[in-house]
Amino acid sequence: MTEQGTVAPNLVEASLRVISAGQTASGAILAGPTFSQYGYCWFRDGAFIAEALDKAGRRDWSVRFHGWVAKVLLAEAGSQERARAVARAGGVPGPDDYLHCRYDADGRPSHDETWPAFQLDGPGIWLWSLAHHLLHGGQLDGDLHAAVQIAARYLGDLWETPCSDAWEEHEDRVHTSTLAAIRAGIEAAVSMVPELAGEAAIGRLRDEVGGRMAMTDGAYTKWDGNPEVDGSLLWMAAPYESVSADEPQFAATLERIESDIVSDGGGVHRYRSDTYYGGGAWPVLASAYARVLLRRDAPGDLDRAVAGLRWIEAQADDQGHLPEQVADHALAPHRIDEWRELWGESAQPLLWSHAAYLSLRAELAERVDLGPPPA
Ligand code: BGC
Repeated sequence: MTEQGTVAPNLVEASLRVISAGQTASGAILAGPTFSQYGYCWFRDGAFIAEALDKAGRRDWSVRFHGWVAKVLLAEAGSQERARAVARAGGVPGPDDYLHCRYDADGRPSHDETWPAFQLDGPGIWLWSLAHHLLHGGQLDGDLHAAVQIAARYLGDLWETPCSDAWEEHEDRVHTSTLAAIRAGIEAAVSMVPELAGEAAIGRLRDEVGGRMAMTDGAYTKWDGNPEVDGSLLWMAAPYESVSADEPQFAATLERIESDIVSDGGGVHRYRSDTYYGGGAWPVLASAYARVLLRRDAPGDLDRAVAGLRWIEAQADDQGHLPEQVADHALAPHRIDEWRELWGESAQPLLWSHAAYLSLRAELAERVDLGPPPA
């Protein structure tokens, strides 16, 4: 019981409350409203959160997020046109042209020169999430229909352009994980607006993107020339389902992920050399790993997927807030304090962590009796 005598919410209810509290009147969903740096809505975080909302039966909230994205894409259509022209001429678009990755509560793009804002995975993940929304009964109304075309054409012309990855790093690279998000997004776009398949740039993207993904010793890696694996590569198989979990290259990647970044203490690190807040283990990646195991079904996979859920549940604080990352088995513990001094404690709650929990729980609940969520 809480102080007021009401029953404390369980973690599923708490997760929905946290997400709902982070959704603004415009439909944007702020990534981590209490963390100094995360008072923004990212396409990436929001798209994964919308997926979880659809799975949790809150299509009334996810539809507002998709509507917000459509508004942003339509409002920024001119800058995306300019970015496409620059990319077609072989250049890299500047900050006044490309679509920014994060927006404040009033819908203004963040303009922080020290924080790279050009990320092509976001529109890709959004397109994928919108197609998922339609499968859950959502409608492709006028604005959304137009926004799908804008985003798909933008990706069609820009997909080979270097940009920051899902972790907002290495803006001078073409990241495998970003290409995977773009592939998932373009296939989703074509499924929603089939005429797009006839456009030359989109056709070339679909034909060539798989071949551009960096590989070392038969496994996907971060970028061409960097043999590290990255936890965000898990998303190819779950949730995007662009490859099966048994595809040889993905299976080899999974083996590397298990040996290099699945944490001894539970959870999954982003990549081996991560130092952000010491390079802890991330619930969003623990969820992705468990969801991959559910799509593979080798002996022991289901048990390990349940263990992943239990690990995430154990990270909630007494208010039912899930963190961005957990430092218990940090890869670089000596690098934690510098971030705390700079920005304070790392984000908790992180809304995407709550979404990752909801999505994994929904998928597991179709297979096993999980009992009630923890209070
Ligand atoms: C992560 C991004 C995420 C952002 C907001 C960053 O630290 O690297 O993936 O979009 O936080 O959650």
